[in-house]
Amino acid sequence: MKVLGISFSPRNGNSQALVEHVLKGAKDAGAETELVRFCDLQVKNCKGCGFCKAPGNDTCSIKDDMQDLYKKIDSADAIVLGAPVYFGRMNAPAYTFIDRLYAMLNPDFSLRISGGKKLAVAVTCGGGPVEDMEKINGYLTTIGGFFGWTGKGLVCEGNLMEKDAVLKCADKLKEAEKLGKTLTE
Ligand SMILES: Cc1cc2nc3c(=O)[nH]c(=O)nc-3n(C[C@H](O)[C@H](O)[C@H](O)COP(=O)(O)O)c2cc1C
Repeated sequence: MKVLGISFSPRNGNSQALVEHVLKGAKDAGAETELVRFCDLQVKNCKGCGFCKAPGNDTCSIKDDMQDLYKKIDSADAIVLGAPVYFGRMNAPAYTFIDRLYAMLNPDFSLRISGGKKLAVAVTCGGGPVEDMEKINGYLTTIGGFFGWTGKGLVCEGNLMEKDAVLKCADKLKEAEKLGKTLTE
């Protein structure tokens, strides 16, 4: 069983730490895990060019690091997405990622990759509006549904302005690990 974590934290901060602990929980339960730091990759925005939906084509026209990430997603049994809240929604790299997933769908919106994956979401913010983080989980779970990913839960924490502040929240890290374990069940 493979669990792929994708962190959208540009500073490898709090949301990434939660992803890492979800992965730890999965690894301790026997899964093979991998963390991808999306902001370290070269991934361009979707151009809406239609290449991926044109007859004879089965992938994106943009040849960048997303091509490798499509393969990693395809071979994973579970995906963990982790993002910080910026201005009440996910930060921009997370949207770039989602838009580029379009190329994983056939013209009739059937899947080009294997489905039946589990999804866990990790979100952090500097204030306290848990609703913003729940909304993000709801959005990612809805989008994940297009790709056959079943939402298994959200781990989130507010009041985290400083990088790595979440590392002081031992209970939250444990909660993340518990969520990781559920991905293996
Ligand atoms: C550009 C920017 C916008 C932000 N907007 C919000 C916001 O709307 N609400 C909030 O609670 N925190 C906001 N924050 C704080 C981050 O969500 C918070 O520090 C989070 O833990 C960062 O995650 P990271 O450490 O993984 O990067 C913002 C931070 C930045 C840099």
